[in-house]
Amino acid sequence: MPTPPELTSTSTPLTALAQWSALESHCKELRTTHLRDLFKSDPSRAQALSVDGPDGLFMDYSKQRVTATTMQLLLDLANARGLRSRIDAMFRGEKINVTEQRAVLHVALRAPRGTQILVDGVNVVPAVHEVLDQMSRFADAVRSGEWTGATGKRIRTVINIGIGGSDLGPAMAADALRAYSTNEISFRFVSNVDATDFAEKTRGCDPSETLFIVCSKTFTTLETMTNATTARAWLLAGLATVGRASPAAVAKHFVAVSTNAHKVAEFGIDTTNMFGFWDWVGGRYSMDSAIGLSTMIAIGPAGFREMLSGFHQMDEHFRTTPFAMNLPVIMALVGIWNSNFLGSQTLAVLPYDQYLDRFSAYLQQLEMESNGKHVALDGSRVTWETCPSVWGQPGTNGQHAFYQMIHQGTRLVPCDFIAFCEPLHPLGVHQDLLIANVFAQAEALAFGKTLHEVETEGSPAWLAPHRQFDGNRPSTLLLAPKLTPARLGSLIALYEHKVFVQGTLWGVNSFDQWGVELGKVLAQRIIPELSGNAPTPAHDASTQQLIARYRAARGR
Ligand code: F6P
Repeated sequence: MPTPPELTSTSTPLTALAQWSALESHCKELRTTHLRDLFKSDPSRAQALSVDGPDGLFMDYSKQRVTATTMQLLLDLANARGLRSRIDAMFRGEKINVTEQRAVLHVALRAPRGTQILVDGVNVVPAVHEVLDQMSRFADAVRSGEWTGATGKRIRTVINIGIGGSDLGPAMAADALRAYSTNEISFRFVSNVDATDFAEKTRGCDPSETLFIVCSKTFTTLETMTNATTARAWLLAGLATVGRASPAAVAKHFVAVSTNAHKVAEFGIDTTNMFGFWDWVGGRYSMDSAIGLSTMIAIGPAGFREMLSGFHQMDEHFRTTPFAMNLPVIMALVGIWNSNFLGSQTLAVLPYDQYLDRFSAYLQQLEMESNGKHVALDGSRVTWETCPSVWGQPGTNGQHAFYQMIHQGTRLVPCDFIAFCEPLHPLGVHQDLLIANVFAQAEALAFGKTLHEVETEGSPAWLAPHRQFDGNRPSTLLLAPKLTPARLGSLIALYEHKVFVQGTLWGVNSFDQWGVELGKVLAQRIIPELSGNAPTPAHDASTQQLIARYRAARGR
């Protein structure tokens, strides 16, 4: 049985700390102060509350409802929660994932060759680079056409089968880095156990030109194993039409990414075509491990290593930069201010880059599976709010949909805007229009428009209240020179470390996910009951009714 964690730094409940009370008092003073006044009273505010990070990444958080005092008080809280020692413990490979007794070392996945990071006395970095080299050889062979399918045809479609962390990162990266990807191969992602996903993603694919990458840390996940089984049948049926269906043929069309060699072999995938990773890589922190094989095939080994270097730059920034200038720390503290003191329940992540279409979906798992917890590390129930709900979609689409609520609704919706100066498609005036919009939204949210201004513009008195904007709605703007593989890596590492800092302050384990278990267990119980062969269902009346309806609808 795992031993309970030592909790020297978090044994006092968060809200019992003097630093927490100081923030509460400060919040009472600042709560009614408008961003308009904060900017008016401090001409240096924009510069003072902005930070330059690695590789040209600039973060302006001056439109958050904080002052230098707020930030200092939040830093005091972070220090009281032992943030420094938690960061050091993570980078040292200590088993900070206490409920699973595992180290948390996604930072080792992007550590340069020659670095030393020990887990149980063993340096894990050489093994990381061995797998990266194995991936590189395979990616090159697929990209060049040297790796062929069972009929000798080169691979034209790569289909990643996985779910959660074994899908969201690679799927997001496929979109994000499309401008850097080969046009010779199309990339598709099957995750849902709904057969529609498989049917639609394989529509029009030639089995003899298709490679499946089955990604699953455990290789036991219901959705992934079901889709992989369907994929094998689809492949063999397709190859049978040209007389090439055989177990040997499967080896040319299936590779696996997993920590579980035994299960990979049991499924029938040759373990020489398996790319490994380790239990110290959490699923949602794994897109830079072998789980990113599809990304490497898309952008090539050099592009993938460039992405890793971006991750590593942010890791080093996080590890070495004083907290007051540390992007992930600042972002985390601002989030805690918004959630725990200003009472917001949500975070909108709004990239003004179409390539980041799936970025907020990726962040939903990263943030909400990591910190959506109500039990502290010591097993006690927290008496403070933890993770907000995270959502969003690329600008400017959201402006014509849900921004109305962000501007004039009754709830506080803090926003992270993300923008890049240089376009990947320099067409006409698009980029200026895009950037003007993101700057305008942040400005409008912060400063609003008073009733007086609306009336002065000539609005009749009955209409003016509808056209007035309160403002004082917080946002951070992340501005970078251009979306590149390295900057994508930095951006992801920024959010990974932000999540870690918030988890540390909230006192939860950001690296387990027990909350997904109960539903999985109940689904396993219900599966045989749907066929009608199982013993009498032992569920609540509502669930029994639903099972009965389903069975009737399916004639069972
Ligand atoms: O159900 C949640 C989860 O365990 C995630 O944490 C994980 O990313 C996902 O399922 C997929 O797990 P696996 O990679 O083991 O198939």
